[in-house]
Amino acid sequence: MLLAASTQTSIGLVILFLAFVIGVAFAFINIRQARPEVGSEIELAANRKPYLSDEELEGRKLDRTLSFGLLGLVVIGVGLPLYWLQEPGRQENAVADMQRKFVDRGAELFATTEEGGNNCAFCHGAEGVGAATPFTLTDANGRYVKEVNWQGPALNTVLLRFDRDEVRYILEYGRPFSPMPAWGAKGGGALTTQNIQNLIDYMTTIQLTPEEAQAEVTEQAAKMLERKDQACVDGRVEAARVGLSAEELEAFDASTVDTESCPPMYESLGDALFNMGYDDGFAGGAYSCGRCHTKGWSYGEKQADGGGAFGPPLTNVVNQFPGTMGVQQQVDFVCVGSDDGTRYGQSGMGSGRMPGYCVVPAIESHTDSNEVGVIAREAGTAEQGGMFTEAQVRAVVEYERSLHR
Ligand code: HEC
Ligand code: HEC
Repeated sequence: MLLAASTQTSIGLVILFLAFVIGVAFAFINIRQARPEVGSEIELAANRKPYLSDEELEGRKLDRTLSFGLLGLVVIGVGLPLYWLQEPGRQENAVADMQRKFVDRGAELFATTEEGGNNCAFCHGAEGVGAATPFTLTDANGRYVKEVNWQGPALNTVLLRFDRDEVRYILEYGRPFSPMPAWGAKGGGALTTQNIQNLIDYMTTIQLTPEEAQAEVTEQAAKMLERKDQACVDGRVEAARVGLSAEELEAFDASTVDTESCPPMYESLGDALFNMGYDDGFAGGAYSCGRCHTKGWSYGEKQADGGGAFGPPLTNVVNQFPGTMGVQQQVDFVCVGSDDGTRYGQSGMGSGRMPGYCVVPAIESHTDSNEVGVIAREAGTAEQGGMFTEAQVRAVVEYERSLHR
């Protein structure tokens, strides 16, 4: 940007300088050569000398004057195109500069605390890596139930699962019955449309690539599948402590207790994916399905998996996607997510709130008037995957279908 601006300026300056030098030279030569007129005589007076001959005037002299003219034309003829060659670059840079400004403003909003409220980073972690936030649960009548710690999902993958309009909607209206407040004026919040745009622009710059997200998921799932059922582990440790003397208790090392035969905490890859982050807050639960489909999931008191919460119950999902054909339809649905006002399955009506897990939505530039679009991205394909690979989606779909009651 700076470089482009300075070449731009230097070309301008050189042209200006040349024009000035030529102008001065011309004026100087003219003044020097012009001789004061002292009245006209028929005969040449003694104090005058004859002027140049016609040959000279129409030959060398004319040639020189014309050459100067030509040189001037060349300067303009070369300088202007050079200038215009730079012009598209200059405009692009201006757009990029504006985009950078938007991103910076978004970053500031993301991390700045509004009076009397919490900023995005407080609940979603610095740079949106996920966090947990204190929240007061209330019952249907708004009466106090208790304080809990609610997981704030990582936002460094949010544009892999939602498109920008869907994210805009979440920011405008918040998530009812969760700590996520409405931020937009439409939802009763304090942020302007422009603020929200800036926040989305900022979030665009902190997104993981699908490959990075998938690698995180693969690694985390492997860890989860090694975990043993906590109740069983606790029981074994408790049993081993029984009858030990005070001294022996002092030296007791819980990690030596044999828990090998305890059942696993998560019974399958699908189970681990569905509950990713439940027991350790990984990515604030961003990759999980449970945070939307299981009541109590986000604050460590989950009820039956897929019993329904913000998202519908999944216990009869085989009716929504029936038969063997239904498996592929369900995989496709979970891959792409729902679209507002678009039907799915047997009787489903999408709202745009169900994220897509293995197709990354496109980011189009200039999709709305507020958007200065240099950040653009083609829509992904199921083969490339999104937050999940297609195989991971298949595993979680299998798990969901096993929840059928
Ligand atoms: C008081 C805590 C809190 C604050 C402040 C907050 N959020 Fe949230 N946000 C949450 C929680 C919790 C969720 C998940 C709600 C749920 O469990 O359904 C969420 C959900 C979201 C989601 C949807 C993510 C998904 O995949 O479901 C987005 C996007 C989001 N927040 C962006 C923001 C931005 C941007 C800000 C700042 C302007 C912000 N949030 C401020 C707590 C907060
Ligand atoms: C941010 C919340 C959220 C998360 C996370 C989420 N879902 Fe959903 N899901 C929804 C909502 C809301 C619907 C209802 C459709 C709509 O409103 O668009 C839905 C619908 C569904 C349906 C159709 C159910 C029916 O009977 O109509 C399936 C299947 C499903 N989700 C699977 C998943 C899987 C698998 C995951 C995790 C990989 C997941 N969901 C994660 C919110 C979520």
